[in-house]
Amino acid sequence: MSPRLPDGEPAPADGALPAHALAGLGTRPFGLYVHVPFCASRCGYCDFNTYVPGEGVRRDGYVDAVLAEFDLAERVLGGVPPAATVFVGGGTPTLLPAEELVRLLAGLPRAPGAEVTVEANPDSVDADDLRALRAAGATRLSLGMQSAAGHVLVTLDRSHTPGAAVAAAHAARDAGFTHVSLDLIHGAPGERDEDWDATLAAVAEAGVDHVSAYPLTVEPGTRLHAHVRRGALPEPDADLQARRYRRGDAALAALGLEWYEICNWAASAEARCAHNGGYWRSHDWWGLGPGAHSHIGGVRWWNVLHPERHAERARGGRSPAAGRERLTDGQRALERTLLGIRLREGLALEPAQGEPAGALAADGLLDPAALARGVALLTLEGRIAADTAALALAPGPLRPPSARRAGTSSGA
Ligand SMILES: C[S@@+](CC[C@H](N)C(=O)[O-])C[C@H]1O[C@@H](n2cnc3c(N)ncnc32)[C@H](O)[C@@H]1O
Ligand code: SF4
Repeated sequence: MSPRLPDGEPAPADGALPAHALAGLGTRPFGLYVHVPFCASRCGYCDFNTYVPGEGVRRDGYVDAVLAEFDLAERVLGGVPPAATVFVGGGTPTLLPAEELVRLLAGLPRAPGAEVTVEANPDSVDADDLRALRAAGATRLSLGMQSAAGHVLVTLDRSHTPGAAVAAAHAARDAGFTHVSLDLIHGAPGERDEDWDATLAAVAEAGVDHVSAYPLTVEPGTRLHAHVRRGALPEPDADLQARRYRRGDAALAALGLEWYEICNWAASAEARCAHNGGYWRSHDWWGLGPGAHSHIGGVRWWNVLHPERHAERARGGRSPAAGRERLTDGQRALERTLLGIRLREGLALEPAQGEPAGALAADGLLDPAALARGVALLTLEGRIAADTAALALAPGPLRPPSARRAGTSSGA
């Protein structure tokens, strides 16, 4: 099953944005996301908008379709501001030939010192590709490691072997990447404490300066979901995932990696992913490619999911947007709370949030010293129960944002 797009209003064919959305464009940080919707095989847990061989989706011409959408962005925005961050995600971007990725990056104007991230699967990059990406301006490589335990990789349907991610991280360093990140998943069926410890030891061996670690979620429509529904695999256990989180946080801190968002740890301020920071702070970004989400000045839109539909529209000079919405003040306040509470800097509280915040601090979920300054900062236990805290602080009737997880095809 494909991922679902949010409901919304129809988007105009020319992609035009209202004047209020364009006001101040370029004075706020601006990011570009490029979704690359191809994978060598589909992992059983993944519901991202991606296509595997045999599904009739061609990879050639893909970069031209993305650059055609960029031309549309130039017209709609009256000039795309130089991007402070670019994130090429997927899918598996490194399934495109390196020269195509180089051509893509050359077509996306960036501000001096821009952060440029490329996502890669450990078995889809070699030393030559990495050098070519670095020379083309990529500054970060994000590798999907998930686990160092062979049987967990099998359960997750990953195509790589346990040592591949560490080897790829070393190759990235050798190619000149100072910023290398590993994605981990914990709490997969059959994962034991020693498997998670081995994964954390592999992070140490890889010597990376950033880690994203997510509890496994069972997404409707995935193979994992079907296995769990018919009892072939157990549902991930929340208590066990909480234990993994505590252990992971302590091990990463011992490596000098500090949390800066609930699921993200970095060795320094420079090692943090500034692009994802733009999503969490509701900055402006344009998402290029099928299923990509964008947000400019309070207007959010999302592209058609299928790569052929996207290419048809973009090449024809028409907007590939499937729908859009203008965020209300209520939605913006809600998102500010739901996303802001997850950050290390904490959430500056509104007066109405004082009472629930006091109750959360009494329960040990918020830091009392930060609260005294009017900031909601999650404790370790608060990070584990972040949804409870977010719900308690949410202003007005709760309506979740359409972007589900950092790294989805907004790329958010
Ligand atoms: C969609 S992938 C794209 C990058 C690359 N294709 C890869 O697999 O590494 C981004 C990350 O999302 C995380 N992810 C995807 N689906 C997930 C799920 N159901 N539960 C937890 N993490 C998930 C994985 O850690 C993955 O590395
Ligand atoms: S997790 Fe990554 S490699 Fe696996 S199907 Fe999803 S996007 Fe592709």
